[in-house]
Amino acid sequence: MLVRTLKGENLNPPPIWLMRQAGRYLPEYVRTRGLAGDFLDLCYNPDLATEVTLQPINRYGFDAAIIFSDILVIPDALGQKVEFSRGVGPVLKPIRTEKQIIELNYCNLGETLSPVYEAIAQVRARLSPDVSLIGFAGAPWTVATYMVEGGSSKSFNNVKAWAMDDSGGFDELMKHLIEAITLHIMGQVEAGAEVIQLFDSWAGVLSPSEFERWCIKPVREITKRIKDKYTDIPIIGFPKGSGLNYKHYPEKTGVDCVSVDYTVPLDWIDKALQPGTVVQGNLDPHILRRGGAAMVRAVQEIKDAMGHRPFVFNLGHGILPDTDPSNVGDLVELVRAA
Ligand code: CP3
Repeated sequence: MLVRTLKGENLNPPPIWLMRQAGRYLPEYVRTRGLAGDFLDLCYNPDLATEVTLQPINRYGFDAAIIFSDILVIPDALGQKVEFSRGVGPVLKPIRTEKQIIELNYCNLGETLSPVYEAIAQVRARLSPDVSLIGFAGAPWTVATYMVEGGSSKSFNNVKAWAMDDSGGFDELMKHLIEAITLHIMGQVEAGAEVIQLFDSWAGVLSPSEFERWCIKPVREITKRIKDKYTDIPIIGFPKGSGLNYKHYPEKTGVDCVSVDYTVPLDWIDKALQPGTVVQGNLDPHILRRGGAAMVRAVQEIKDAMGHRPFVFNLGHGILPDTDPSNVGDLVELVRAA
């Protein structure tokens, strides 16, 4: 279903999956997470990663599974120390100099990431054929923000200053990321991923010229390299918060589908975006968290606006951790109702 839509078929009802569909809102995830120890240990345990990937499929019957992993396995696999600290989020030893970039290495990339590929193969073997398996990676800019800031950031002072300074080697870091992310996507496709999503969660902090240089260009290069090797693999790009820059994103990057966040108006999606590309989105995760009449209304508005062209039902960002699991069931029913 998902693959057919991504290739341009208009299906009614549309396929549905949700960003962060495996995660803390599910009691069964919290239980498995407790067994794994550290968050990265869960990502690198093929049996447990398989189990949590399938949990939301078993509960809700989504049209796609997304492999349980994280965008920060890339810095980890390149040798930058990454930790997930409870209540704080990711903590990395920040990279701020050219010397530190030289110290990044590919020696262990394939080996560190091999449990992700093992999990993909296991999930594919256990999924029914009509459920698509999505592999993913962070886009280079977003991964770079975590590597340079040393974790989540509000100001992006360090990474933006470095990106503006042409002499300072930031371009070198981005080249490494393009390479590592392309290899990681190829590994996922070889293992059985049928669709790829690139998360550029911090695309929205860049000015238009920076957006061109640090979001469009790297994603175009990755997309080209993937398509050169695997002509058939659909790629979804998610340049979150990029506003009017969404307009030319699909044609400039070559992605097959653009995932839109919840700030993008439905009539603009309908008129400006959908004629040129398949769109995924864009229910506000807070509406899912509230549920009830507000959600009924919002789902109908999305279906009315986007339903006459191919689209994938999703949220405008990930499920919030305190969402009531029964609201997710209600949402799937609403989207599939005539
Ligand atoms: O969507 C899915 O179900 C697949 C799994 C998935 C996770 N992270 C699991 C996760 C995916 C696709 C991601 C992507 C990801 N990771 C992004 C891009 C999407 C977005 O949210 O903008 C980003 C920026 C990250 C980095 C990251 N990982 C942060 C900032 C955090 C801490 C904040 C938070 O949301 O908890 C994580 C941890 C993380 N990744 C969790 C999960 C389920 C929670 C960890 C836990 O169980 O304690």
